[in-house]
Amino acid sequence: MPAFTPAQLAALVDADHGLLSPRIFQDQAIYQQELERVFTRCWLFLAHESQLKQPGDFFATYMAEDPVLVVRQKDGSIKAFLNQCRHRGMRLCRADSGNAKAFTCSYHGWSYDMGGNLAEVPFEKEAYGQVDKARWSPRRVPRVEVYKGLVFGCWDADVPSVTEYLGDMAWYVDMFLDRLPGGTEAVGGVHKWVIRCNWKFAAEQFCSDMYHAPFSHSSPVLASLPPDIDLSQAGWPMQGKQFSSPLGHGTGFFMDTPEFMFPLLGETAAGYYLQSSAAAAERLGDMRAQRINGAHMTVFPTLSFLPGINTLRVWHPRGPNEIEVWAWTLVDKAAPAEVKEAYRKAVLRTFSPGGILEQDDGENWTEIQKVLRGHMARQQPFNAQMGLGMDRSDDPDLPGRIGYVYGELAARGMYRRWAQVMGAQSWAELAPRGLGEVASNG
Ligand code: FES
Ligand SMILES: [Fe+2]
Repeated sequence: MPAFTPAQLAALVDADHGLLSPRIFQDQAIYQQELERVFTRCWLFLAHESQLKQPGDFFATYMAEDPVLVVRQKDGSIKAFLNQCRHRGMRLCRADSGNAKAFTCSYHGWSYDMGGNLAEVPFEKEAYGQVDKARWSPRRVPRVEVYKGLVFGCWDADVPSVTEYLGDMAWYVDMFLDRLPGGTEAVGGVHKWVIRCNWKFAAEQFCSDMYHAPFSHSSPVLASLPPDIDLSQAGWPMQGKQFSSPLGHGTGFFMDTPEFMFPLLGETAAGYYLQSSAAAAERLGDMRAQRINGAHMTVFPTLSFLPGINTLRVWHPRGPNEIEVWAWTLVDKAAPAEVKEAYRKAVLRTFSPGGILEQDDGENWTEIQKVLRGHMARQQPFNAQMGLGMDRSDDPDLPGRIGYVYGELAARGMYRRWAQVMGAQSWAELAPRGLGEVASNG
């Protein structure tokens, strides 16, 4: 029986008034309910399709704390299943990625085919007589879908399609995934590191928080500026907007400041991004290809991007107080090789374990998490009231509910959705509130 009822969750998250209880970031019982309700019901990012080119190509990842194997099949489809041997629960495949015809458990040798079916049991006839192989195959992820190169999985067979799940957010996500024919590919491997903070600090910041950038990131941005710049003329962009989805997703971005990308990305990557924007406009239109810059975004719950900078990451939760960040660099498949390499290095420099901007973000999240060890500190509600009541749903250029770039509209949307998902027992309960209806009061 889940510990927190909808009424109790409403007391913890008062999105209408922008008030958040710190308990949601460190309470073990809330975390267990998140594992059960949020992470088994929502679509979770598994892999980029470019990691699974050939039949037998596999990638070992996680759905929250559950290890899963994602495997390209002979018929071209992608299957995912729990990376857990059905004999005594050993991790079935201990490699991070590769190509395999079968997966053999290193403990007692039970062997599974690439579709996740139990195929061989050592000494089966002598030791068991017979094993019911269908009964003892790994738990299958029942829903796997690919959206523009991104492979998603969901434990709940009733989940709406990824496209429905994204809703209006698809329009924003596409400016990253669908700029040019061929879509994107992953370059440079997957970076993995640990940050001692709750997953929602990271997800919320990428969903909603541009407000921190001029303060938290001022030193690396100043250090990236050309030496001859007149600092009295330098300043952070003030023009931009934020989108909040009733499904918990969100994004914020600057507008009409294309030069903003240069110091962070360097000439090769930023130059490519600007030059290719005219071609991108043929697919995306002028707004998404050229006028929106420097966007941050989160697909609820744990998939975040920085389009333009081109990092994609998942915040795998590891208890209420820790995350494993898994980060990819995506590039337009059609980009020249030197641009792909420039992007790989630019992301290393900015948003990677050693990235100069990444350090700023992680430092904030870990400090908040440490502060929340205090009993008194946990009694003080957080203020997420910026822009309350100042949003609109009739922007002439942008779909959905729109606020100012420096605001917490999308944070409130994320927590409102979080409380809905935590309080619902099924998609049947959730969908009428979740797909179509626009939440009120920002
Ligand atoms: S635990 Fe895998 S074969 Fe025994
Ligand atoms: Fe940041």
